[in-house]
Amino acid sequence: MSIEIAYNSWASSYDSNKNKTRDLDKKATIETLEMYSFESVLELGSGTGKNTEYLVEKASKIICFDFSEKMLAKAKKRIASPKVQFVKIDLNKEWNLSDNSVDLITCSLTLEHIQNLDKIFNQAYHKLKQGGLFFICELHPIKQYLGSKAQFETEEGIKDLEVFTHHLSEYLEFAYKYQFKLLEIKEWFDDVDKDRNQLLKIPRLISFVFKK
Ligand SMILES: C[S@@+](CC[C@H](N)C(=O)[O-])C[C@H]1O[C@@H](n2cnc3c(N)ncnc32)[C@H](O)[C@@H]1O
Repeated sequence: MSIEIAYNSWASSYDSNKNKTRDLDKKATIETLEMYSFESVLELGSGTGKNTEYLVEKASKIICFDFSEKMLAKAKKRIASPKVQFVKIDLNKEWNLSDNSVDLITCSLTLEHIQNLDKIFNQAYHKLKQGGLFFICELHPIKQYLGSKAQFETEEGIKDLEVFTHHLSEYLEFAYKYQFKLLEIKEWFDDVDKDRNQLLKIPRLISFVFKK
């Protein structure tokens, strides 16, 4: 099953299924972006609009890129705002957007489905205004090494999606290649992992804020 078709199937239950990764990403996104101000935003892999809902309160213009028709349809139902434009597009292709046009690019839980990060960082760099920010929040590479991946429940059982492991060094390599400055790197843990005495403390997510 292609990634696009898998998300079309997942769309109806994406917001209601138990999903610690989705919920922690929301917290990480809000806690991180609260510290910054921005007017125009490009959201990569915007899905059902979980984070768009927050961005619409802070920004005056948001462009949402996603290739899943059904995920986009859920987001459109959730957010009826003239500030938001939804665009069906494959992120691996050329992004139809002017260069130097946005203050912030956000990307949550999407890069695990993208094999070639070089193209993403390259386009992100060109689309951002000078001084613009690139926020990324993804499944932590440690979780990927241990076999975690995007998956969802269907009547026939658990469906795994196609994913690509991205090492920490990959994110940094491409950020430096396109001359981004690293402002923040954070690891995000489930609540239960906050207990310092617990033996197994593995971060679920990793986030970065890069500046052009
Ligand atoms: C796990 S969901 C995350 C959605 C949202 N960012 C969130 O945090 O809830 C990943 C999203 O990325 C989209 N996606 C994955 N690969 C893509 C690609 N190559 N082009 C466009 N969208 C893609 C999927 O359709 C899906 O909506």
